[in-house]
Amino acid sequence: MEGTLQPIDLTTVVAPGDTVASKSNSMAEAPIKITITIPTNAYFMSGLRDFTMNLVRNMTGFSEQWAYRFQSVIDELVNNAIEFGSAPGKDVKITFISQRGKSIDISVEDTGTGPSKKSAEELAKLVEDRRHVNPLQITSIRGRGLAQIVANWTDVLEFKNTPEGGLVVHVIKHLEAGEQL
Ligand SMILES: Nc1ncnc2c1ncn2[C@@H]1O[C@H](COP(=O)(O)OP(=O)(O)OP(=O)(O)O)[C@@H](O)[C@H]1O
Ligand SMILES: [Mg+2]
Repeated sequence: MEGTLQPIDLTTVVAPGDTVASKSNSMAEAPIKITITIPTNAYFMSGLRDFTMNLVRNMTGFSEQWAYRFQSVIDELVNNAIEFGSAPGKDVKITFISQRGKSIDISVEDTGTGPSKKSAEELAKLVEDRRHVNPLQITSIRGRGLAQIVANWTDVLEFKNTPEGGLVVHVIKHLEAGEQL
């Protein structure tokens, strides 16, 4: 496929009360929420990776190293949503909530119309089981995304079923001392 990333719907929602006036007066910055909806197609991954890098660098206070780690986390979650979660022609919705100097929060929502539907409970169990396996004993190339990469680089990893039959994978990483630029 050729062309630009036009189908990406980029919506920035500034928290209520976070007007220009209140921003200059307030000590603490309000969280910034950005939602991106992409069609179920790996073509959009590279734009999403660039977006994640810029967001983490410019808006979160996390280090460059963490920007690369979050790129991998996004890669894993969105690739899963494309491969297993949403059917071609449907969407994957990615939501970032950045609280500068405090945390980054990412949710990836699919529609549950893909080829291999799993419930939130099944995925939570799968990750729990695989977390306790010595990574050196995993001989297959696949199967490390959630339990190794995503779980190791986040503080919270949780799964929710949506009323529409899809799945939300939600991660949070708190900024700790020594992780800032
Ligand atoms: N969004 C999703 N919807 C339905 N099933 C999912 C979803 N994400 C993951 N899964 C299921 O969980 C399994 C484990 O996912 P995980 O990302 O850890 O490994 P993988 O995608 O199989 O391999 P890898 O990510 O290492 O290439 C998948 O094989 C798939 O069955
Ligand atoms: Mg995966």
